[in-house]
Amino acid sequence: MTSLTQLSQAIHDAPRWHQAEQLQNPEEISIIPLHDEALGAVVFGLDARKAQAGETIHRLKQALAEHLILIFKKQSLDDFQYLAFASYFGSIFRPSADNPVLATQSDTGTPPDVIPVSNAVGQGDYTGHGELSPHADHQWTTQPSFGSLLYAIELPEDGGQTAWFNTIKAYDALGKDTQNQIDQLQLITYNPFARSQNNKGTGGYGDTPYYRFKDQPIIGHAYPHPLVRTHPESGRKALWLNTRSEVELVNYEDQAGNALIQKLREHLLKPEFRYEHQWEEGDIVFWDNQVTLHSRQPFPSDQRRLLKRISLAGGRPF
Ligand code: OGA
Ligand code: MN
Repeated sequence: MTSLTQLSQAIHDAPRWHQAEQLQNPEEISIIPLHDEALGAVVFGLDARKAQAGETIHRLKQALAEHLILIFKKQSLDDFQYLAFASYFGSIFRPSADNPVLATQSDTGTPPDVIPVSNAVGQGDYTGHGELSPHADHQWTTQPSFGSLLYAIELPEDGGQTAWFNTIKAYDALGKDTQNQIDQLQLITYNPFARSQNNKGTGGYGDTPYYRFKDQPIIGHAYPHPLVRTHPESGRKALWLNTRSEVELVNYEDQAGNALIQKLREHLLKPEFRYEHQWEEGDIVFWDNQVTLHSRQPFPSDQRRLLKRISLAGGRPF
């Protein structure tokens, strides 16, 4: 018999409902929206090592669709327990080899199920210590991840905060005229990992342009997606645009397209759409990647930071 993958092993070993002492009591869990913030709710009283009741997972899914990010406090998990918990919410994101993403391995052509997001040499060293500009993960792929979890293991003393942006609020705050102008547009987001070796693993963009003009070469594959996407559960509309990748509006004049994208990017960065998370060890943040962007503050290179990310598969944006 072939040996089990890490994910199969994780689910194989996970606690089940019939193990009463391992079953989380749903009544111990409370979900408290962040006060006066653009998005987010904190989940108290949940131990992610335990088996979860159906009503709990359903409640969490509804809360995620409403608040866009869920913050779980005081967790203590190994990779198997972390995978077993995350897999309640969907399949693990496994893009094909023709679309490299953060941590794509040269032998398998796909990233590991649990990605060490870290500046600590020997632990992956994905994303380094620099600033990450606001982005949605995997936006250049055919079916970007619907969400991800980041679990804080080791934190720097200074910096390294992660901020999330509510792109539903950003869309709603546009005037009717702009909404009508953009509602039917298609956007291509080019793959930063296809552009140069220099971008691999660092999250760095080097001299990548912000917009592709038609006389410039196409680098990597191009998949148009709606610029305004609809959330599959809530039906709410959101801007599906990051602030740094090379992008291109389909069938749009160069100068007008560039100006429109620049205007929308400035709009997205407004503080009223943003929540900045000050990490504590043991935090897990689970975010909806379809209707948020996220960014990271830089931190000193001589301070260690290690978070672990699991991304979950999503559908083709609509
Ligand atoms: C990511 C990411 C932000 C951070 O893992 O996708 O953007 O704070 N990380 O490390
Ligand atoms: Mn990211």
